[in-house]
Amino acid sequence: MPEEHSRGARLVVGLISGTSMDGIDAALVRISGPATQPRVRLLGFETYRYSAPVRRRILRIAAGEAATAGEISQLNFLLGELFAEATLRVCRTARVPLGRLAAIGTHGQTIYHQGSPTREAGRLVTSTLQVAEPAVIAERTGAPVVADFRPADMAAGGQGAPLVPLVDYLLLRDARRGTVALNIGGIANFTVIPANARPEDVFGFDTGPGNMIIDGLVRHFSHGQKTYDAGGRWAARGRVIEPLLAQVLREPFFQRQPPKSAGREEFGQRFVEHFFLKRRGARAEDLLRTATELTPRTITDALDRFVLGSISIHRLIVSGGGAHNRLLVSRLSQLLPRLRVQLSDACGLPVDAKEAIAFAVLADRTMHGLPGNLPRVTGARRAVVLGKISRP
Ligand SMILES: Nc1ncnc2c1ncn2[C@@H]1O[C@H](COP(=O)(O)OP(=O)(O)O)[C@@H](O)[C@H]1O
Ligand SMILES: [Mg+2]
Repeated sequence: MPEEHSRGARLVVGLISGTSMDGIDAALVRISGPATQPRVRLLGFETYRYSAPVRRRILRIAAGEAATAGEISQLNFLLGELFAEATLRVCRTARVPLGRLAAIGTHGQTIYHQGSPTREAGRLVTSTLQVAEPAVIAERTGAPVVADFRPADMAAGGQGAPLVPLVDYLLLRDARRGTVALNIGGIANFTVIPANARPEDVFGFDTGPGNMIIDGLVRHFSHGQKTYDAGGRWAARGRVIEPLLAQVLREPFFQRQPPKSAGREEFGQRFVEHFFLKRRGARAEDLLRTATELTPRTITDALDRFVLGSISIHRLIVSGGGAHNRLLVSRLSQLLPRLRVQLSDACGLPVDAKEAIAFAVLADRTMHGLPGNLPRVTGARRAVVLGKISRP
């Protein structure tokens, strides 16, 4: 029997494509110890980039433009193939045969998320839709696939997001130091883990845009040639347009009490056009600098308003693609001089891999019949087992 089975360890792949829609992050991890107290080691990681046409297709559908059921159905199966290829690739590079995988946890690609209820035919309805068909992934890999993590939480009255906080608690909690785990993807969100926390002490929420507005502006001003501001260098040439920053900061989302979650519905192309692109005469680098300032400002405001007054925090652990934006991270350090700001790599969780690792851990929980949400974080009535399992 392979070593990982004899010692109770298991190999799990976690897959996610976030709101940036840059590509599929695939993490191959070895999980050891009981599922209630997992220890995780990263064996391999890859980002499987979407081609420009695929990305455009997803962006268009996720932006809420008219799409037929046929287009969405085809996209679901197409992405199933791509998520399966990402799995094959990460396993091949790490020289791990597919037969050794205990499970695959896939978040899929969100194309719609309505976390707070709207009234539909006299009922209050929340809903969410992640695509990348798990049956296809299971068939191509021969491994059981856990997918569709969000609906069970929403069925129990939650917003279906964020789900990473439980994993942050499991992997980053500390007996003596209060920790905030911040992920800067398309959207930014953080998890607050007080010193010596129990699961019910943990909370977290979306603070607003991470890279989404920056990416939207870069796409616009580079005429689609670029998709992000590498290192934050373009923004670094500009200046913050203070009246614009002040105007955006007045948006109700930033004032709202948590729990709260956001996506392209809130901060997508429409938002970029309304606040940034219709500002005539403004220079691209100044708009970019302002959008880049918005992220650390809203993160800091959220910490000040909802966290630091009542909880002692020692360190801020940063992950997500935004961790590569030097301007953004250095502004964050400047705005939070009392916190030790560090990248998640220092905790054995490379910044690009962290969210994919989280979905491997969540899949491991589901395979063991353990709940994956934190009710205080999502607003659910109770902790529930997340996901649906496709067996090969
Ligand atoms: N070298 C870099 N410099 C600046 N930003 C980067 C860099 N690499 C990635 N990013 C940003 O990170 C985003 C992807 O981050 P990711 O964590 O994958 O987000 P998501 O979970 O939304 O997909 C990119 O769209 C880009 O904005
Ligand atoms: Mg991504």
